Amino acid sequence: MLRGIGGFLPPTTVTNDDLSRGLDTSDEWIRTRTGIRERRVVSRDLSTGTLAVEAGARALRSAGITGADAVIVATTSPERLCPAVAPEVATRLGLGTVAAFDLTSACSGFLYGLATAEGLIATGTADTVLFIGSEAFTTLVNPRDRATAPIFGDGAGAVVLRRGAPDEPGALGPFDLGSDGALADLLAVPAGGSRQRAADGGLGHATVPADDWYLRMAGRPLYTQAVDRMSQSARSALKKADWAVADVDWFAGHQANLRIVRAVAEELEVPGERVAVNIDRVGNTLAASVPLLLNDLAARGDLRAGQRVLLSAFGAGLSWGSATLVWPGLRAEPVD
Ligand code: UT7
Repeated sequence: MLRGIGGFLPPTTVTNDDLSRGLDTSDEWIRTRTGIRERRVVSRDLSTGTLAVEAGARALRSAGITGADAVIVATTSPERLCPAVAPEVATRLGLGTVAAFDLTSACSGFLYGLATAEGLIATGTADTVLFIGSEAFTTLVNPRDRATAPIFGDGAGAVVLRRGAPDEPGALGPFDLGSDGALADLLAVPAGGSRQRAADGGLGHATVPADDWYLRMAGRPLYTQAVDRMSQSARSALKKADWAVADVDWFAGHQANLRIVRAVAEELEVPGERVAVNIDRVGNTLAASVPLLLNDLAARGDLRAGQRVLLSAFGAGLSWGSATLVWPGLRAEPVD
């Protein structure tokens, strides 16, 4: 049961024109191919944890509570390889020694995290979960790669989930979740993990080429996969919830590319005016994408109590997920 929402964006804005000064690209290319006009990026003093704390505090405020008994952070740009950032976020939010862990599922992290949080509540492990999608993913993107540098942005979106009845506003429907590890290399950061190591034999010698620390993305095949997987998954979530497409007031899809969002909506036959979009201002913020989108809609008064929302996301892994949500009517603050 959704009970609170919050979002936070780092203050530094990078426009397409800013990017075009250092890269062989243009505002026109980026806008027409992706729908992105600008994105926010972390400065040196900000990171996944600091963004998460800001968004988490806003979600708690929106729910009108000061405590939670579990914290989950979905991120694919971890604060450090070890440990998880969620315990530190819980401490910095004054939540004490609660259950806290990170979850990695790239752009579908918000859907996987919602399902996990609902599971903690269903099993009686927690009554109230603070779940935050937080990303400083631009730190993993090669600033010299025009194929990826324009796409991503940083930010955090958070929700509070609590126990409740399935017919109450705020209720999440059954989830559809899936993955295809055979296509893992379509979107990957090769180095830094146990496969391609930072140092060899403890001697501290660098063993990997510098570019392997950065994201590699095969845009075209990913595009096709994104449209197919999100459409199928969203359809399956609708079926499980026994909703018709006509019941959907808002399609809140992962903001990977405006053309992808529109193509999925077209596949599903959701009319354009019910398709939520904020990629123009934030770019692709991975696990933060869908909660930032919901926060934007709610903060500008476009998302009202009782409205039916279809959530869907797709990303690296590959992985994807969808769910239905009846909007509970929350106080939401603009991100800035
Ligand atoms: O978050 C979920 C995971 N990510 C995704 O789902 C991303 C999915 N993919 C996409 O959104 C799109 O494939 C991109 C936005 C990444 C690329 O758009 P595209 O329409 O698929 O372009 P493309 O990669 O096929 O490239 C078309 C042309 C190429 O030139 P040639 O070979 O036709 O001469 C590229 O070299 O555009 C060129 N290009 C650029 N030109 C100017 C690629 N990036 C740029 C750029 N500026 N930034």
